[in-house]
Amino acid sequence: MMQAMSDASPHPSSTGRRERVLSGAQPTADSYHLGNYFGAFRQWVALQDDFEAFYFIPDLHAITVEYDPAQLRERTYIAAAQLLAAGVDPARSALFVQSHVPEHAQLAWVLGGITGFGEASRMTQFKDKSAKGGQDASSVGLFTYPILMAADILVYQADKVPVGEDQRQHVELTRNLAQRFNHRFGETFTVPQAHIVKATAKIYDLQDPTAKMSGSNPSHAGVVDLDDTAKQAAKKIRSAMTDSGTEIRFDRESKPGISNLLSIYAALTDRTIESLETEYADKQYGHLKVDLGELVGDFVQSFGDRTRALLDDRAELDRVLAAGAERAREVAAETLAAVYDRSGFVAPR
Ligand code: TYM
Repeated sequence: MMQAMSDASPHPSSTGRRERVLSGAQPTADSYHLGNYFGAFRQWVALQDDFEAFYFIPDLHAITVEYDPAQLRERTYIAAAQLLAAGVDPARSALFVQSHVPEHAQLAWVLGGITGFGEASRMTQFKDKSAKGGQDASSVGLFTYPILMAADILVYQADKVPVGEDQRQHVELTRNLAQRFNHRFGETFTVPQAHIVKATAKIYDLQDPTAKMSGSNPSHAGVVDLDDTAKQAAKKIRSAMTDSGTEIRFDRESKPGISNLLSIYAALTDRTIESLETEYADKQYGHLKVDLGELVGDFVQSFGDRTRALLDDRAELDRVLAAGAERAREVAAETLAAVYDRSGFVAPR
């Protein structure tokens, strides 16, 4: 039986089950942006064909910074609609909200016991985020955030975690915690791998092409939000900061602005950077920006249309999320039971 199942699955893991993929994206803005889409969602969608997929909206992570509850609730629905609009298919992937699966938080507590204080202090994302508001303004939740992320991943025994470059260190911590637990308490967790597609691992801000595109940037002039109108998006691309010189060539060091636009162009059209360099060899920056502005405009337009249609039917979104959480809990409960047992907790009888 096991054998037949693994034969039918394109990516059987060492335990004979289908390999699993897991990822999440925080509902901390009114919309996801182009960086999330190219850095993460495109890979999520591609991987759901061959893997058993778990994709979720980390609302528990979202409360580690100051937030408004009503806004969080609305943003969670928007996130669900945008992930569906991006191509997450509930028939193939469990799409759910993190807080619907209490095992994430329960496992995080256990993992907290084997995480070193110094180890957690080395997380660069925490250092960056806490530096912005000052250490006293940072919550303990922001500090322990990577431990919850490790629990998100390990509770599903995920093999692959498609993320952008900025999450690499968190996945590395997750691997360390999985190995440490396995070593101390016996084989329990699959040690996951980050799945980072180099070409789109970091999409940069259009106004500051040395910084990553981020929803928490105070100005969205350099951020193409997936709910922008075609006009807004095209304008942002046309106004992108570009480099001195005139040549359209990919060179991250001396031409970060043009290189970023070429990366976005290549990702959006599935073309190579080289073919774009050839096409634009005799043209000017303005030509590239106008063309890419139109392409991105069309893209966000149809993305927005799909999202709005999905948001119009909240009951259907609730159904999708409930089914996703039900599937997720089956797997998460099994892992948590094994972890509690290995940890030496007396089983309730
Ligand atoms: P988050 O919500 O900041 O971002 C969601 C995904 O988008 C990627 N990303 C980018 N990729 C390329 N260029 C960019 N400019 C860019 N900005 C964001 C991120 O790398 C991420 O893949 N901690 C996570 C959420 C999370 C998670 C998890 C992810 C919680 N639990 C478990 C994977 C597995 C985060 O804050 O991503």
